[in-house]
Amino acid sequence: MAVERVLSGMRPTGNLHLGHYHGVLKNWLKLQHEHECLFFVADWHALTTHYDTPHIIEENVWEMVIDWLAAGVDPSNSTIFIQSRVPEHAELHTLLSMITPLGWLERIPTYKDQQEKLSNKDLSTYGFLGYPLLQSADILIYNATQVPVGEDQVPHIEFTREIARRFNHIYGREPGFEEKAEAAIKKLGSKKGSLYQELRTRYQQSGDDDALESAQALVEEQQGLSLGDRERLLGYLEGGGKMILVEPEAKLTPASKMPGLDGQKMSKSYNNTISLREAPDSVTKKIKTMPTDPARIRRTDPGDPAKCPVWQLHEVYSSDATRQWVQTGCKSASIGCIECKQPLIEAVLNELNPIQERAAMYAEDPTLVKNIVADGCEKARKLARETMREVREVMGLGYS
Ligand code: TRP
Ligand code: SF4
Repeated sequence: MAVERVLSGMRPTGNLHLGHYHGVLKNWLKLQHEHECLFFVADWHALTTHYDTPHIIEENVWEMVIDWLAAGVDPSNSTIFIQSRVPEHAELHTLLSMITPLGWLERIPTYKDQQEKLSNKDLSTYGFLGYPLLQSADILIYNATQVPVGEDQVPHIEFTREIARRFNHIYGREPGFEEKAEAAIKKLGSKKGSLYQELRTRYQQSGDDDALESAQALVEEQQGLSLGDRERLLGYLEGGGKMILVEPEAKLTPASKMPGLDGQKMSKSYNNTISLREAPDSVTKKIKTMPTDPARIRRTDPGDPAKCPVWQLHEVYSSDATRQWVQTGCKSASIGCIECKQPLIEAVLNELNPIQERAAMYAEDPTLVKNIVADGCEKARKLARETMREVREVMGLGYS
């Protein structure tokens, strides 16, 4: 397998809740043990819609980083940084804008959808139209191969792939590309060189994707190749020219099954959340006052878990035995709703307890958090600078 690099970003728009934890964050926690991971706070993206409330952004940036750390994002395994602290993202955004057809941006579904949804705000701005392109710059500047996102973001990743392709098509051609690619093959040595040739032929003649992947892995793993030769060898596999920007893949975040307190999806806009730093007595109260099967008016009325939001939480948190107990007890009216909720209260508090302990530790030590982020920004910036050197060069900006 070629080396994967995972990148994802989140807009700092409010404190994180159990929906984020079960949807996005647990996925990040898993990925950080499997691949190189970069996670960043998309503060510029937040400004595209919150340009008139900048103070909200500033506060949320640090709170969100604390939430990530508290949830278990581990700075020794993943790079945590802030978008605006790596200004190269903006430079790439500007340069990519030169080759971005307006129609591509206008066609992206989130553009019109969000404008309609947030109709109380004027979103006919340049920044908002360019939102997906800024996201492309975020991704392409790190040559990220995998981008964990929710379903709604898939068109943005598709768009990013098209931009990368267009960029490589326009700027990846160089005089004498074929000769240079052939020369680079020689540098692989005779054994790997002929393997490369064989895999390339297999891919080009019969569209064998496994052969393509093996050849890419061979190139990625080869020590001592210059950046230019690596790009030529990757580009030569598929034809064309150098592959300067890497086409990323969307890695669909498994749909969060986390129901909110009212049975709808947990979301800030439905006001049905339990936040990661919700005080235990508030958690208890929220669960205790959750609506139940509306047909169960008196304690002696039997109920139906299928019609009860509490049951949905049992599906997330409870063992088979507990679920069985709920099913039988509810349908026969042998348990009361308060009783039924008790194991959930305990499960949620147990889940939140270590998160809240870590959050308190980080909240008490802002310097620690700032150092983690400063460290991450520096690492990210180093990677971003490398890409920009190359991008400037091929776009005729290599002087200075
Ligand atoms: N648009 C993403 C969201 O709303 C956030 C984001 C910005 C992002 N840049 C990104 C996600 C780059 C993945 C990669 O969720
Ligand atoms: Fe819902 Fe449990 Fe009450 Fe049944 S017993 S209605 S599942 S809370």
